[in-house]
Amino acid sequence: MTAYFKQDGPVDGAALDGMAQGVLGRPVPRIEGLAKVTGTATYAAEYDVANLAEGVFVTATITRGVVKSIASEAARAMPGVLAVISEARMTTRAAQGTAGEAPEQEPQRVSYWGQPIALVVAETFEQARDAAKQLVVEYDADTGVALDPATATSEPQEDEAIDMGDLNAAMQAATYSVDMTVETEGHASAAMEPHAAIAAWEGDKLTVHASLQMLNYNISELADALDMDETNIRLVSAYVGGGFGSKLGISEDVVAAALASRELGRPVRVVMSRQQVFQCIMRRSETWQRLRLACDADGKLTGFGHQARVSNLPGETFAEPVLQSSHFLYAAPNRSLSMDLVRIHRMTAGSVRAPGEAVGMPALEMAMDELAEKAGIDPVAFRLRNIPDRDPEGNLPFTSHGLAECLRQGAEAFGWESGTRKPRHRREGEWWIGTGMASAARVHNASEAKARVRLTADGRAEVETDMTDIGTGTYTICAQIAGEMLGLPMDRVTVSLGDTDYPRGPGSGGSWGAPSIGSAVYLACKALRGQLAKRGNIDEADLVLKDGAVEGGRSVADLIGGEVLEEIGHYEPGTNEHDYTSSGFGAFFAEVRVNHWTGETRVDRMTGAFGFGRVLNEKTARSQCLGGITWSIGTALTEALHFDPRDGHLANPDLAEYHVPVHRDVREVEVLMLQERDPLASAIQAKGIGELGMCGGAGAIANAIYNACGVRLRQLPMTPDRVLACLRD
Ligand code: MOS
Repeated sequence: MTAYFKQDGPVDGAALDGMAQGVLGRPVPRIEGLAKVTGTATYAAEYDVANLAEGVFVTATITRGVVKSIASEAARAMPGVLAVISEARMTTRAAQGTAGEAPEQEPQRVSYWGQPIALVVAETFEQARDAAKQLVVEYDADTGVALDPATATSEPQEDEAIDMGDLNAAMQAATYSVDMTVETEGHASAAMEPHAAIAAWEGDKLTVHASLQMLNYNISELADALDMDETNIRLVSAYVGGGFGSKLGISEDVVAAALASRELGRPVRVVMSRQQVFQCIMRRSETWQRLRLACDADGKLTGFGHQARVSNLPGETFAEPVLQSSHFLYAAPNRSLSMDLVRIHRMTAGSVRAPGEAVGMPALEMAMDELAEKAGIDPVAFRLRNIPDRDPEGNLPFTSHGLAECLRQGAEAFGWESGTRKPRHRREGEWWIGTGMASAARVHNASEAKARVRLTADGRAEVETDMTDIGTGTYTICAQIAGEMLGLPMDRVTVSLGDTDYPRGPGSGGSWGAPSIGSAVYLACKALRGQLAKRGNIDEADLVLKDGAVEGGRSVADLIGGEVLEEIGHYEPGTNEHDYTSSGFGAFFAEVRVNHWTGETRVDRMTGAFGFGRVLNEKTARSQCLGGITWSIGTALTEALHFDPRDGHLANPDLAEYHVPVHRDVREVEVLMLQERDPLASAIQAKGIGELGMCGGAGAIANAIYNACGVRLRQLPMTPDRVLACLRD
């Protein structure tokens, strides 16, 4: 049976609170944690498959043009080499939510430097890698490539534009105003596990083990790319070593492994090298953001302008949505928001860790800090003064709104000294020390989701869905919800994820995973409770289940009577999507030290306070916030993709040269989580949390750098050379 629920309006606000089992919300350790740390969790490339051949990509060394010829005779004659495959569609990739279009045109087009153009398959990986180096590729390179985003042509994104009132007039009439431009550089998702796939055919049935975030969607992309029926495809991603957006769509390894395997009649594995992952998986666009903010003498915002330029390859539709939270975060009657998409020939731009807010929020919060300073108002008080009652553009109510509470609780926990702030007020030896803060916001989207929950004859629960766990805690929260609803201890619930043979989950992306799949599991369990109540002749409202039994009565196994009970929960967001604005909110506080002689910045401590509806697992939710704050440090101080201005190739395609914050960069981090319920956000009253921790945090660090040493940089990351140049001025 299917328990279907479409969210038109609120759910019962008391549901899930006060349950007898008491396992939901608690800091339960990851149920797959032991398997992961002991190496028994099987990642995509690790399946033991008989007769496996190995594929290695050859990638383009021109920016744009056509592959004229590939001389492969020498490679084919090398030991162990089985095939050299260079079909155009092999390297079709699904960019950002648009399915691969499988162009079968010859010759192959090269759209960016580093694009896979051929796959060499051999008995061993070393043989394939060796032979791949022997291919001689001739190109017809295009002239007139656009490599400089500052001068390339751009297209306005009409859907993003808002004009309300008269911003120019508001700027002129303002008591205080700022007009400034912030630049941010490109980012890589930098997941630990490289993109990898093992494909095997049995007749016309294809099975692919791959590292993917969104199986429900990826299966259609692969069917499109291979021009086959998706009922003949099975995708498995049981464990994923991080995604951060880079595995939202299928990548070239998946399609190439499938095609090579079909051609050779044996299973083929393709694992991208770290450099290939950097060069051909999506980047976050660099951004230019002009902020114009106007306020009156009381510090009330009267004008709000956010103009952004982002880039992508010609023909790609994704535009880094930096304005996402700017649309609703602060009240101001005169508003102008717009976005231009610049066309340049770098690799495809797409979703990377909190697309939009990750760089949009820091820019906005840097401008807010400058305006608060001009107005002589404490930055926390300044933000509190400008929180809107309703979405200022759509005039919609919010599903819930924790910003004010997060600002207050965060300030208190951090020990924020309110009042007038002066830069360069504290020095210890060669270090300037200062503090800064910023708001956090990240839109909440629920997504359609299905999950099957089975009660077995011995009174255990089994949860099944093709939802993935990309390191976020999905396995654990599914088990907690089932355990809570069915009155079972955690060791009596098993969760199976990441297999398209199971009901379709929402996939992991955009922070919608936990609220959406959690709602589906909840609905299935609610239906099962109904079945149990009927069998026990108990009114469902009075049914109390704990440790595998009706309280003071029969065991669940006894009620089931040797049968297996099964329900599929099916959740769909309904009219709430249009009737409300929904977002997670929070506040960041940072204390930094900046070295007077080297310009080096260290983040001594950070506090983040977040409100995102129900906390499903105190430990995994906190981990998401800690991870987000870690990425905030990367955005503020270290992370930048560097492109060679001559041919646009990525010059730092590995974790040695692309600097993500490491353990020594992350010192004291404190996370507070509000105890919120949002009955409008999902059936389990939870909003997304995956990305909120990095939506604004870099702004708090930038503001703290100013407070420490008096340098207002308008460029992220604030690397020592940039800080030093300003310190010397
Ligand atoms: Mo996310 S960057 O939508 O995986």
